[in-house]
Amino acid sequence: MASKLVENRDTQAFLDKIAGIGSSGGNERVKQIVRRIVGDLFATIDEFDVTEDEFWAALNFTAAGAPEIGLWAAGLGFEHFLDVRMDIADQKAGLSGGTPRTIEGPLYIKGAPRTKGFARLDDGTDKGETLIMHGRVLDNEGKPVAGAIVDVWHANTLGNYSYFDKSQSDFNFRRQIETDTDGRYKFQSIVPSGYAVPSGGSTDGLLNLLGRHGQRPAHIHFFVTAPNHRHLTTQINIDGDPFLHDDFAYATRDELIPPVLRRTDPDLLAAAGVEGPYTEIEFDFTINRVEEPMLAMASSRNRLVA
Ligand code: DHB
Ligand code: FE
Repeated sequence: MASKLVENRDTQAFLDKIAGIGSSGGNERVKQIVRRIVGDLFATIDEFDVTEDEFWAALNFTAAGAPEIGLWAAGLGFEHFLDVRMDIADQKAGLSGGTPRTIEGPLYIKGAPRTKGFARLDDGTDKGETLIMHGRVLDNEGKPVAGAIVDVWHANTLGNYSYFDKSQSDFNFRRQIETDTDGRYKFQSIVPSGYAVPSGGSTDGLLNLLGRHGQRPAHIHFFVTAPNHRHLTTQINIDGDPFLHDDFAYATRDELIPPVLRRTDPDLLAAAGVEGPYTEIEFDFTINRVEEPMLAMASSRNRLVA
């Protein structure tokens, strides 16, 4: 970025002052980061000849965007970029080969009910197709991890998440399932639909200005955790969704699109105790053993408690 005005001595000295460079207090790394960000924004303003009016319009817009800041982080690719960087760091630390991570998104709620082995996620009011998903949690040597927690959350057939959508019951489509002694988990739910950012909101407004859409393919979120294992944040996508490879949050990964099996055989339906045809997904999660306790924990992102 070339801005003569920003590069001149007076502006450079001004940036040093703004970032507290040369003052004794504060945190040196934060000073350097703030200096870089403010300097880059000064250069952007100068290079694009951003007017005072445009500056305040943009600031008003970002202030209005605060409630949707998590959507901005996803839609502007920050969450995916952080994933790419963590992948590289894990690889360097010899922690590769597990189930790929992908973004958390802003719609997790802490404290979903916990059960052992099996859970039903839906309250029965959404008449979407029944989904039965099951599999194991394994470590990087292929050994089952008993007592791992599979914390799962997903949208309804309108693409809406409980808690944020007050028409749904508490913790609808949200559960924590503890794996059994063979590392197995299983749940029954309904097949979710894709998601779109709220129409008319600040994210929608920003994406419109970029000529982009705010759609996500149908997906199911997971935290998979166990003591002494690398915390896994991931999702699976429902194969066949039109937005599968056109996700506004860039979260799709090839290893996270399991086969979707449609079950219609009356014997299978009877065995599963469901009335109509259902969808079955089998998916094993592999998590890596780690020594460092911090690596087994979730990031310090703010998470809502119901
Ligand atoms: C967003 C919504 C999601 O359901 C998700 O998984 C990720 C991001 C969002 O609105 O930004
Ligand atoms: Fe989501």
